[in-house]
Order: sequence, then C-alpha cells, then structure tokens
Amino acid sequence: MTSLEKKVADLRETLHTYNYQYHVLDQPTVPDAEYDRLMQELRTLESANPELTAADSPTQRIGGQPLEGFNKVEHQVPMLSLANAFNDQDLRDFDRRVREGLGIEQVDYVCELKIDGLAVSLRYDQGIFQQGATRGDGNIGEDITHNLKTIRSIPLKINETSTIEVRGEAFMPKQSFLSLNKDKEMREEEPFANPRNAAAGSLRQLDPKIAARRNLDIFIYAVGKWEAGDLDRHSDRLTYLTSLGFKINPEWKKCQGIDQVIDYVESWVTKRDELPYEIDGIVIKVDRLDYHDVLKTTAKSPRWAMAYKFPAEEAVTTLNDVILSVGRTGAVTPTALLEPVKVAGTTVQRASLHNEDYIKEKDIRINDTVVIKKAGDIIPEVVRVIPEQRPKDAEPFSMPAECPSCGAELVRLDQEVALRCINPNCPAQLKEGLTHFVSRNAMNIDGLGEKVIEQLYDNQLVANVADLYQLKRDELLGLERMGEKSVSNLLSAIEASKANSLERLLFGLGIRFVGSKAAKTLARAFDDIDQLRAASRESLEAVDEIGKKMADSIVRFFAEEKVGQLIDRLRQVGVNMHYRGPKPTVNQEQSIFHNKTIVLTGKLEQLTRNEAKEKIEMYGGKVTGSVSAKTDLLIAGEDAGSKLTKAEQLGIEIWTEQQFIDQIDK
Ligand code: IVH
Repeated sequence: MTSLEKKVADLRETLHTYNYQYHVLDQPTVPDAEYDRLMQELRTLESANPELTAADSPTQRIGGQPLEGFNKVEHQVPMLSLANAFNDQDLRDFDRRVREGLGIEQVDYVCELKIDGLAVSLRYDQGIFQQGATRGDGNIGEDITHNLKTIRSIPLKINETSTIEVRGEAFMPKQSFLSLNKDKEMREEEPFANPRNAAAGSLRQLDPKIAARRNLDIFIYAVGKWEAGDLDRHSDRLTYLTSLGFKINPEWKKCQGIDQVIDYVESWVTKRDELPYEIDGIVIKVDRLDYHDVLKTTAKSPRWAMAYKFPAEEAVTTLNDVILSVGRTGAVTPTALLEPVKVAGTTVQRASLHNEDYIKEKDIRINDTVVIKKAGDIIPEVVRVIPEQRPKDAEPFSMPAECPSCGAELVRLDQEVALRCINPNCPAQLKEGLTHFVSRNAMNIDGLGEKVIEQLYDNQLVANVADLYQLKRDELLGLERMGEKSVSNLLSAIEASKANSLERLLFGLGIRFVGSKAAKTLARAFDDIDQLRAASRESLEAVDEIGKKMADSIVRFFAEEKVGQLIDRLRQVGVNMHYRGPKPTVNQEQSIFHNKTIVLTGKLEQLTRNEAKEKIEMYGGKVTGSVSAKTDLLIAGEDAGSKLTKAEQLGIEIWTEQQFIDQIDK
C-alpha cells in the first residue's frame, strides 16, 4: 500500500467510525466541523486520484447522478407481510396456534416496535453495501440503492464477508416530517399526509440529492438471504446485526409466554406518543429459528409472527363552529372549533378543514358530530361526519365572499383551491407577516407573540417589520401585560436580532416560495442582500436547489419599490445584511483558480478587495501584491495603472472584474 492509499484508507475508516457513532449510536464524539473537514480532505484526495474511489467510501453517499428510472430487483427470499391482531384475544389465539403447532406449553417471543415507514432490503457482498430495494409486491421490488446510500445509519461497509441481506424499515422522524411540511407550505406545495408517505416519496426520487436532504433513518429488524453462520434465535440475530454496525431499534424485548407479550403491548399504547418517530403497532416473533421452520409460512405471511395494530388515533366530538384565518400570503383557511377531546395524548380543540372543497366534499356542517384524527399523529384534522348523529340545527358552511379581516373581495388565483385576499394592506396579512418575521426560523425575536403584535399593530406603533426596530420603551410599557421585565427582554431580543446572518432576514421577509432552507442556500450563494437583489433570473437559477418558480418570485419581490425602501430602512436601523454562517466547502481542485497566483489592481465596483481575495482563496488561489513572471492572472478594475501595463508587457492573462464575477458564479 502506498502512503497515499494508506492515507485514504485511514480517512475512510475514521469517517466510518464517526458516522456510526453519530447516526447509529446517537453519540457523536467529534464536532461536525471536524467531520466536515476530514470529509473534504478525502473528497479532495479522491478527486485528484479517481482510481482510489471505492463504492464504500463515505464520499459516495450522494455520489450518483439522477436515474432515468428504477430497475427491478428480484428478492431471493420473498418479503412477506404479517397477519394482524387488533386485541388481546387475537394475540392469545396466535399464541395457541403456535403452541399447538409446536406441541409445547410456553413459547419465547421477541417483541419489537412496528415502525411506520417503508420496508426495504439491503444486500451486502464481501462486506460492501451493494444493493437496496423496496418491498414491491414481495417478490419483485425496485432498486433504490442510490437513495438508501444517503441514509447515514446504513453502513456502507460491514465486517462480514458472506453475502447477507438485511431487512428493515426506512422512516422519517416526526421532527423532520414537520419541518419538511413547513418548508413545503412555504413553497406552496402540497404537504405530505404523514411521515410514512414522506419517507416513501423521498425514497422514490430519481435524484439522490432529494433523499439526502430528507433526513431519513432506518431500523433493521430481519434478515433475508443469509450465508453467514447459523444462529439459533431471532434475538441472537438482532444482537449479531447490532455488532455489525446496523441500527436496531433498542426497545425490543424477549418475552416468556403471551402474558408478557400483552404487558409489553399495553406498555406502548401510551408511551408511543413520546417516541421521536411513529409506530403503528408491535411485532411479535417466535424467538427460536428452528420453530420458524416447523411453523412455516402461508402464501402471504409467516405463522411464527404477528403484528398487533394499535387502534387508530381517532376521536368523536362536536364541531361547534368554523373560524377563518387569513395567512401571510392572503390565503383564507377554515378551521373547526371543537368540543375539546383527547387524541393521541393531547387535548384537541381545533382541527383543520383544509379548504372549501374539502368541507363540501365531506358535507361537514356546524353542530355535526365529527370524527377527528391526528394526521401522522401530529396535525389534527376532521376526517368525516357521522351523518346518523346529525342534529336538526346542523348548518351548512360556506366561505364568505369578502376577507374576514379587511372586507376586500376574495378571489381564486389560477387553479388554486384556496380563496385569497389580495389586498396588500390587509391587516390580517400584515400581522401574519410580522409574526412570521419574528418567528424562530426567521429573526427569532422572543417575546413577540400574536397578542403583542396585535396590540402593536392596532395601536399603530408598528406597520411593517422595520418599525419593530424603532419601538420605544415607553410605548411598549403602555401595552397590556407588558411589565418592565418583559419590555427589557423584548428590547434586547430585538437588538440581538440585528446581528443575525442574512438567511434569517431573507426567510423573515416572506418572499413567496422561499422557505428557510432555500433562504440559507441563497444567503450562502450571494453573501449579501445587495448581490441577491441585483441577481438575474439566470444567475438565481444557476444555484443548486433554486428552480424557475422561486427565481421568478425573488426577482419580482426585489423589483418592488416598497421592498427596496423596506430594506434601506432595515439597513439604516442596523440590521445585518450579510451571510455569517459557515462558508461553503468548495472543491478547490476543480476550480480554475486552484494553485494560481493572482494580482488585483484598480478600483473594484462590485466587490471589495477583501471579498475578492476571500473568494480567490476559497477556491485555492493565492493573491499577491505585485506583478511578476510568476503571476498567472491579473484582475483589473477601473483606473488600473502600472500593474496593468506590466502585466500586458509580460503577456499575463488579464480579466475585468465582471469576468471574474461571472467565473465565480459559474
Ligand atoms: S418483520 C416476515 N418487524 O410491518 C416478517 N416488520 O405488516 C417481516 N414492520 O412489511 C416483517 N416494523 O414493513 C417486522 N419490527 C418489525 C417491523 C416490521 C415495521 C413493517 C414491515 C412489514 C410490515 C408487516
């Protein structure tokens, strides 16, 4: 092994270890920045020495190009489903069948959480992750290796050289689901109904970049084709798979006899709400593997396992009224006010009715008895009415023709389902805009709840977001429930927000379709708000993740005179307009500035000297003060003098500032 090969191998090993500690054990041992630094080093070495790149390199997690379509994969061992149990009796019947089939008194079972995601199969040859597939119809699934590789808890390499196939459930944690849907809402896209659909949708993408952004995870719970050594029990397999570096759900438990199984099941009925991911039941498996062979499988499911399904988290209550709210973008949405009722561990008083079409289609009326459900056990919604229980005084609901806040006529834009108020001075929209500006992912100003904003607006202390920065102590003290202490806290939160990095301001301004992730991408790419303001549609679209719809919306937003004035005022009051987060890691090797000696001269118009220098250095170039035979490139601004003349004499390449910027944009 050459010293370079050894260096690459060591880097990979270290990164695999850090990755395992972080994503499987949940116990990071180094700061993210250190991980990123080593990853960058490995990337640089691999791109300079492509012959050293390997399928199991941690750099290969999002390596692939988008696919044209999915290939079919035949499962060597079919991926079966499970028979369902819905109550204790079903479980006892299952236990009786198992005991009779085996002719024994008491059976050892393993109980596991039934993760609500998508079943996948992972094949390892010679210890390397080779292929991952969906379940499909159980015999033939689809090859989704490129997407599965982006799940960081799937080891790319294991310490087992025989061919093995493991099976597990890929899923999206509740928190990731919520933020994904928030982002979708910002982009005005249809949200996912639940984390399972979100996980499935993410894994069925042709471009692995999308799955990589979705924060998916996996728990392994079974094996398929298995050429490794024999083990006696399912529980031994779980232990062995854990030792190979797979992520196994830690809540599994051995139970002696069905009574212990029922205790386990009952203990999870309420505890399930506290988990950071969704489960829809408990899976019960006979522990001894030789018993599996005795019991066999039916055409669809094994006789040695059972899925206990939790009752759907639904509740019945009365719909007392329908209220309307006007969002930041003017969309008017109906919400049901309910007789309070407990669902999935919390008391629910409001539920989404989505839009007018939804209400009509389900014929939902005020005073109706309705079934509500937490979609994805998270956001309550009205599922249906119980028509047999409809009271005589039930009233059909219809959307008003005017905005409930400002009285302007509501319209339906294009093909949208939502009714919108398009009055730019609508108080409800302006207040929502203020609430959004101060929210956690935006400027993060604590102490400005809806009630305070309402008062500030109604007392004409604040009409737009810049006014927040000119609020006086006395004005705030005059508001209801604002004492000395809360006013001081609020004023310091407002002051502190001035230092936020650009992406928070961008997100806070509420540019249509620009969610918090896109705001970050834009802030990184353009560095300050003036460059973003000046950016053309083309240069916006050239940024990864920024599509046409968003680019159009950004250009339209900044073209508005009112927006320009607002930004000027925010600048005057001291709000930071620069990106202050970590700089993007760039592949210096591939940059044309790499290892080049560059001289800057003349007056630069668009960048400061320092900014230009930082950019060149970021791409691996060196900036020097004087022109010599060693100079590779001169960037000449306005009124360049002797350095320009000298460079011309030496035949050195000369660029204008614009040429330089165009190259950087590329
Ligand atoms: S074992 C032959 N264990 O539930 C046994 N399945 O209805 C194969 N699932 O398709 C399944 N968590 O997608 C097993 N701990 C677990 C599970 C689990 C979730 C899913 C899996 C399967 C479905 C069965």
